[in-house]
Amino acid sequence: MKTRTIAEPYKIKMVEPIKMTTREYRVEKIREAGYNTFLLKSEDVYIDLLTDSGTSAMSDWQWSGMMLGDEAYAGSRNFYNLEKAVQEIYGFQYVVPTHQGRAAEHITSQLRIKRGQYVPMNMYFTTTREHVERAGGIFYDCIIDEAHDAQNPHPFKGNVDVRKLQKLVDEKGADAIAYLSIAPCVNMAGGQPFSMANLREVAEWAKRYDLPIIFDATRAVENAYFIQQREPGYANKSVREILREMMSYGEGMTISSKKDNLVNIGGFLATNNEHFFAKAKEMVVVFEGLHTYGGLAGRDMEAIARGIYEMVDDAYIASRVRQVHYLGNRLLNAGIPIVVPIGGHAVFLDAKRFLPHIPQEQFPAQALAAALYVDSGVRAMERGIVSAGRDPKTGENRKPKLELVRLTIPRRVYTNLHMDVVAESCMALYEERDKIRGLRMVYEPESLRFFQARFEEL
Ligand code: F0G
Repeated sequence: MKTRTIAEPYKIKMVEPIKMTTREYRVEKIREAGYNTFLLKSEDVYIDLLTDSGTSAMSDWQWSGMMLGDEAYAGSRNFYNLEKAVQEIYGFQYVVPTHQGRAAEHITSQLRIKRGQYVPMNMYFTTTREHVERAGGIFYDCIIDEAHDAQNPHPFKGNVDVRKLQKLVDEKGADAIAYLSIAPCVNMAGGQPFSMANLREVAEWAKRYDLPIIFDATRAVENAYFIQQREPGYANKSVREILREMMSYGEGMTISSKKDNLVNIGGFLATNNEHFFAKAKEMVVVFEGLHTYGGLAGRDMEAIARGIYEMVDDAYIASRVRQVHYLGNRLLNAGIPIVVPIGGHAVFLDAKRFLPHIPQEQFPAQALAAALYVDSGVRAMERGIVSAGRDPKTGENRKPKLELVRLTIPRRVYTNLHMDVVAESCMALYEERDKIRGLRMVYEPESLRFFQARFEEL
């Protein structure tokens, strides 16, 4: 039987006009922005695939919940709704809200890392590693080698290589490790999931050395969906059940609610460790706000609580990931080099293969993202040498194997016709790829440089 089309499990109730601009206009705007798509004005963008962070469309149920915000300083009813949602869906007992994910990372890193301790992670994420390093910790990459190869089709490229963990313990001792920071659907690897079998193996290993797992659960639902689709034994389980099992292997989590949780702002940390919870509550009042709001309005916490229930709807999450794959498959069919397998939140153009004539020191991914904007007004993000930053010890540029441009799909925002426009723009650029030139960095901030760095065309 022919496979039938499955449409989005929602209809559109409100629309937001977007501006179409001319090529000359965009040439001017990208130059003014120093060839950094972070520095463009949103109103000059036609289709915004910069990030899936805080860009989701909320449902009518979430919006109506925002009218029920209890804006009390202490003990807001919306905090208790959030706590209940986290307990039911993620399975962690104690919750500390924060204004977004990096604030939860800040608190966790400061409280859990002793200077000089290692934090193994399945590949780095920019803000997570930054907070580890600010707390005196040392990032240790424990992801499988396949993850660093854009063309390797491994179905679970987010997996941890337990031999790498063992090597670290053999060399430095278990006391030299603060905790394991494990991310589902690894952002910098291309949105690649880990398998439940791998997570179980990691958890058993960690138990032997009494090392806790703290998830960066930012895109855990997308990972749960891949397990359902790809891993033997999970096809008949709901995403909700799979997520719950995943989280059961951890002591706690931090999260940016701006992704899976379907809201525009927010985050939290959650844990089953009572002592850590007490310490985190002490710290959140210094940096964020009282422990029952942590920098969020009551209405924001209500929207997160409702988003947490909506995100585990099987039809919703399937449609979300299918849209990402729709775009990815169009590019693959046109012979455009992208990271495979296609990830959960984004399609990643492989700038090394797209622009083989531009050496990594001339920022090929940055140049490609700028060229894409000029071609069609589509905004993407560099995830390569600029994002990787400098080694804090040597001051040298880190040279990641992956030099990527991320086309990140916001949740419930664009239609597949928008995806067609993006695909056609990538194809047009690929035909004319010889004309794209490298860049020179003319301004470089000290930390998280990709947000504000400026460039000129060579
Ligand atoms: N962890 C992961 C895996 C993330 O992708 C992000 C944010 C954070 C933590 C930090 O959360 O932004 O709420 O402070 N990623 C965004 C992105 C910025 O575009 O990938 P935040």
